[in-house]
Amino acid sequence: MLSYQHIYHAGCPADVHKHMALSIILSMSVDQYDLITYIDTHSGRGRYNIASAAALKTGEASFGVLRIMDCLNDFPVVSYAKILLDSKKKFGINYYPGSPMIARFLLRKMDVLHCIEAHPREYISLEKFARKHNIFTHYADSYSLAPEIISKAKGLSIVLIDPSYEVKIEYKACSNFIKSLSNKYKNTIILCWVPILSSAMHKVFLYDLSDTDGLWKQEVLFNIPYKMLGSMLLCLNAPTFITDNLNDLQEVMQKNVLGV
Ligand SMILES: C[S@@+](CC[C@H](N)C(=O)[O-])C[C@H]1O[C@@H](n2cnc3c(N)ncnc32)[C@H](O)[C@@H]1O
Repeated sequence: MLSYQHIYHAGCPADVHKHMALSIILSMSVDQYDLITYIDTHSGRGRYNIASAAALKTGEASFGVLRIMDCLNDFPVVSYAKILLDSKKKFGINYYPGSPMIARFLLRKMDVLHCIEAHPREYISLEKFARKHNIFTHYADSYSLAPEIISKAKGLSIVLIDPSYEVKIEYKACSNFIKSLSNKYKNTIILCWVPILSSAMHKVFLYDLSDTDGLWKQEVLFNIPYKMLGSMLLCLNAPTFITDNLNDLQEVMQKNVLGV
């Protein structure tokens, strides 16, 4: 039984880190490829009311997205800033765009989005948000369903893997999942987020992937008063014109988000 709900963490520094990377990968791929299939293995509900009681209970957005909302016109990650501005215009200032929403903003009508979510209540919200001809939602376990979707995907496939890591065994399940995908689908861009906690499970995760070819990684440490010590992003099979841009996120996080 899943208990994690992303509303408690929406807009936190880790979200900003991961969502900036996703925006860069999607926007740069749109410029280069005629057709994209995006697979969001852990979608959540799509967008989040960061003024809701649940979000305010943790207040995590105040260390993340709320620090950049007033300077979006000069923000260095232009694709992400534009999504936040468009989302604000469309849904109001309280709504924070989750990963499916980011993909919805950036992809074109010929691209295909598959959003997988296993929590029944999160799925109901996701399904409502996703009513568009090229968005397919799936109420399913992503580790079972995603490989089947990827095997049939057309054009460039981009996979976001963003688990809740509710249980320790999920780290192993996820690194095994990445290994199996990377062995089989050399042209699929995979972005995976891993929390940095005092348990240091992110190091075990990395060790498990140490013989994986072309693994890009970035660790950002936080200076904020909560359990998560930092955020790690892993990316596989991305061309260098994309990873060169992802490299800049370390400085953007330090200067524009955490340093504020
Ligand atoms: C960190 S949240 C996702 C946030 C979202 N990717 C975003 O950036 O807006 C993780 C989500 O994965 C869902 N989940 C957990 N295990 C899953 C599984 N095996 N298959 C699909 N979804 C799962 C949880 O219910 C939760 O909504």
